[in-house]
Amino acid sequence: MIVEASAPGKVILFGEHSVVYKGSAIVLAINKRARVFAEKRNDDRIFMDSEDLGYSGFFIGDEYHPVKGAPWRGRSLTAVNLVSRKTMEKLGVQSGLNLKLRSEIPSAVGLGSSAAICVATAAAIDGLFEGKLSREEICALAYEGEKVIHGRPSGVDNNVSTFGGVLKYEGGVGFEKIILDESPCFVIGNTKQKRSTGRMVQIVSELRQRNQSIVDEIIETLGSISETGLSYLLKHDYKHLGELMDICHGLLTSLGVSTPMLDKLVHASRESGAMGAKLTGAGGGGCMIALVDEERMAAVEEAIRIAGGSPMRVDVSYEGVKTRRVD
Ligand code: PMV
Repeated sequence: MIVEASAPGKVILFGEHSVVYKGSAIVLAINKRARVFAEKRNDDRIFMDSEDLGYSGFFIGDEYHPVKGAPWRGRSLTAVNLVSRKTMEKLGVQSGLNLKLRSEIPSAVGLGSSAAICVATAAAIDGLFEGKLSREEICALAYEGEKVIHGRPSGVDNNVSTFGGVLKYEGGVGFEKIILDESPCFVIGNTKQKRSTGRMVQIVSELRQRNQSIVDEIIETLGSISETGLSYLLKHDYKHLGELMDICHGLLTSLGVSTPMLDKLVHASRESGAMGAKLTGAGGGGCMIALVDEERMAAVEEAIRIAGGSPMRVDVSYEGVKTRRVD
């Protein structure tokens, strides 16, 4: 038997970096998914085929054995190994596994690909053993993997990937599910520059140490933009929503997390008719997001391409993690 589970990636609309200190972030699940196909083995090995990324190998316990690609590649698969073992532990079963990992979500650019893989891994294994884990339990198992990758992540990625839709996340408070009766259109521009979230959080923290009251005011303003932005999103007031995205990009730039390439893609989008554009996620590379009218969509995608980025049209996805039996 093979079980397939899939889970969506995400974009942060507002609140990146400020949510690390105070205030809320608005996060959207997107219609780009990661997929994990799980099958039992008769030994105790956990095989992982991530051919898309150009490497594969297997784990015996915590030890990685490469089949294709360099041994250090195993580092990025350690989280999947941990989620697999913890899921089987929770289900009270023990088995070797074949896991095929596939993703439409570009990795290491702030679109939540690692969380989506971890969520889909827990769900696929649960399905394989006909377990009955709740979505909350799957989300918590995925968070264990996220900790291996990101240190102390806020938890926003695994939550939005598990439940789908739109979430408002407030540090120390939790998540609130937001129901939109209409979803605007977004284009993501990928700079294709990989970066580390932890490093970018550190850059902001160091800037704050040197200029605490000024940086605190910027963080506070970013927090209030999240709140106001959410009210515009709910009212379908995209003109004002776009304006706030532009202001948000300026403030994030002042925190030192934009790059010339991100700025280039943001300006190219605005000049070709986007209603607003900003970097999304930690910055330092990664992606930007533009709010675009259906009629301007092709022009904005083309402008991002000409500016050297990779455009990707995304819609909000209300479908969180899902599982199906393949044979
Ligand atoms: O990993 P990214 O690019 O989605 O960014 C995470 C957002 C931060 O606010 C920078 C960090 C966090 O844990 O919330």
